[in-house]
Amino acid sequence: MCGIIGYTGIGNAVPKITKGLSVLEYRGYDSVGLAAKTDTGIKTVKCKGRIGALEEKLEASPIKESGTAIGHTRWATHGGPSDTNAHPHSVGKTVLVHNGIIENYRELKSELEATGVTFVSETDTEVAAAVLNGEYERVGDPISAIRTATSRMTGSYAFGILFSDKDGEVFAIRSGSPLILAKGADGYYLASDMTALLPFTNEYYCLVEGELARLTPNGATVYSADNTPSEPAWSVTSMTAESAQKGGYPHFMLKEIYEQPEAVVKSVSPRVKKGQPDFSADGIDAEFWKKVKNIQIVACGSAMHAGLVGIRLLEDIAKVPTVSCIASEYRYHPPIATDGTLVIVISQSGETADTLAALRYATDAGLPTLAIVNAVETTIAREADKRIYTYAGPEIAVATTKGYCTQVSVLYMIAAAISKAKGLIDDTEAAALVKGITEDAPKAISDMLENVEMLRGLSERLAKKEHVFFIGRGTDYAMSEEGALKLKEISYIHAEAYAAGELKHGTISLIEEDTPVIAISTEEALYDKTESNVREVRSRGAYVILLCREDAKNAEASADAVIRLPVNSAAATLFASLTAVQVLAYETATLRGCDIDRPRNLAKSVTVE
Ligand code: M6R
Repeated sequence: MCGIIGYTGIGNAVPKITKGLSVLEYRGYDSVGLAAKTDTGIKTVKCKGRIGALEEKLEASPIKESGTAIGHTRWATHGGPSDTNAHPHSVGKTVLVHNGIIENYRELKSELEATGVTFVSETDTEVAAAVLNGEYERVGDPISAIRTATSRMTGSYAFGILFSDKDGEVFAIRSGSPLILAKGADGYYLASDMTALLPFTNEYYCLVEGELARLTPNGATVYSADNTPSEPAWSVTSMTAESAQKGGYPHFMLKEIYEQPEAVVKSVSPRVKKGQPDFSADGIDAEFWKKVKNIQIVACGSAMHAGLVGIRLLEDIAKVPTVSCIASEYRYHPPIATDGTLVIVISQSGETADTLAALRYATDAGLPTLAIVNAVETTIAREADKRIYTYAGPEIAVATTKGYCTQVSVLYMIAAAISKAKGLIDDTEAAALVKGITEDAPKAISDMLENVEMLRGLSERLAKKEHVFFIGRGTDYAMSEEGALKLKEISYIHAEAYAAGELKHGTISLIEEDTPVIAISTEEALYDKTESNVREVRSRGAYVILLCREDAKNAEASADAVIRLPVNSAAATLFASLTAVQVLAYETATLRGCDIDRPRNLAKSVTVE
């Protein structure tokens, strides 16, 4: 999704902006641009395409040294990708970059057109620039102009702003979209995303909803909603520029798959005390868990799939009725809440607009909320009543792997904690669950990664196909949903997940000679039934890859290829199956020559509804 970077200081701004833009690439974008303050005014360079195209333009027409600039990567919403629709947008003295959507831009545009203002792009952002410029021309003061202009806008926005008559000054304001300020050795920065700041500094401040900021080469000032100025309360991040680099792997996705064992350990170990599940470091005690009578998990995409696995864990281990809801649907038909309902929102980025809207809906309904979030200090983490961070580190590939993996691991630990708090399991049983997730699962992931050659071999067959089916029962159906999403988003192969028993009610008509079916069977009690479904599709010509427990009988006779999973604990079996489907997706997409880390049309952090 769109990305913002800004700088003002004693350094050369343009190379800093292009560097920041290249870090922001992972978010997904289709055009790019920057505007730099020079002795002769603000110079804007922008184009459809990737950073390389922008750099060519800059080479052909260099911007002489500038100390103040803003840049943007655009993921098209209003108007297709084009040079004209790319940000920054300039109107009069005002130049701005924007993340988010101005929902009332049509009304604002009509008002302005009636007064003779003309527009060159199809974007809502150019309208925002015109509204702001009108106010700035009227009042002459940037702070009050920005306040008045944004008070007329509905929707979401994070703006980085330059005014042609304000040398060395960058302004910023946010509402609904994140913005972070940073303090470096040679100036001050602005970005929509912490990773874009890491090449320059680790001192940062997350702007709060409605705060406005003014950066100069000598300092940063934050204005609260009532315009009281203060110096930002800087924090230091432990993230490093290296953690957001590929580190020798051909793709971030592969690196992140290999980081999963460590990410799981980092995410669950802080929630263990004396071998027992313990969330006291997150401000959550046994009394809190005891009061939970039912759970609504709300999330999008893979995070929602983590919720599907969560249903099984929370119902089987903690006996708490649980549903997993698509966040974008939650507001239209929320599940009925009762006394003891807990809403758990899950988000890797902590900024997904649909998840945030659902969280706010739940908060307005007076429900207690708990966020499972990876990116610290993000809006979702801040707005939930309680938060549990997954410590996966920066996830750059658009397709989530370690993010999802750590979400499931934390849900596992929550299920154990609730079960223990409610007295459903004793210390020995709780310790076994804890060991499963802290030790067996990370080892199972590492062991599965020893099988990459074998998985690559299987991927050769998948890579030639346009349709693949995933089937499973229970938790394996939930995992099938994630396997299918992973494959389709990065390899562009049409992949569908079905509850294994459901195929014969219609979908089996799509099975023909050589159709790949990936069957997941990690639950011993369900193996025979899933194996029957495997035989059904195979006898109709399907090529079946069966992921099953290492003690499963007759697997080789039932399927064309078998991937054996460890059985030392349920967590080990589950996480091994996850790793296998992730690697199958990765290898298949590699064989098809896809842009793995930046799949077409997708964005890492989806900050529009
Ligand atoms: O940042 P979030 O976890 O809130 O993101 C939710 C989804 O957009 C995300 O999981 C998406 O489905 C991934 N691209 C899947 O790999």
